[in-house]
Amino acid sequence: MSHDLFEAARAAMAKAYAPYSKFPVGAALRTEDGRVFTGANIEVASYPEGWCAETTALGHYIMGGGGKIVEIAVLAERMAKCSPCGGCRQRLAEFCRPETKLYLCDNTGVAETVTMGDMLPYGFRGDILK
Ligand code: THU
Repeated sequence: MSHDLFEAARAAMAKAYAPYSKFPVGAALRTEDGRVFTGANIEVASYPEGWCAETTALGHYIMGGGGKIVEIAVLAERMAKCSPCGGCRQRLAEFCRPETKLYLCDNTGVAETVTMGDMLPYGFRGDILK
């Protein structure tokens, strides 16, 4: 089940716009009802204005109707098991549960499976803001 998500992340990575870091990243996430949303990192000459693959995928997910995220795959061409940056962990956690699976991939497939709870223990939760 997770290999097709890896393949979706790899296809997304091919669309990365990363001329400055030359570090293409792809991400793919699946919702409970089977929809898959993907994203690649997009860089900007004013470096801090670029953003990550996971964030692009989340934008597609929200515009595609949102829902419960059940699994996520992340892949970087030049790094096995590239894990989401701190900001992306917080963004992903907004729409996930601690048990949501996160697949850290290498160029051949899923290299390690962790959970969002593993990735962001003691993360800030916005419950009090509601
Ligand atoms: N990057 C991602 O897209 N996702 C991550 O989880 C880590 C880093 C991107 C941002 C930037 O375009 C490049 O990788 C180098 O930091």
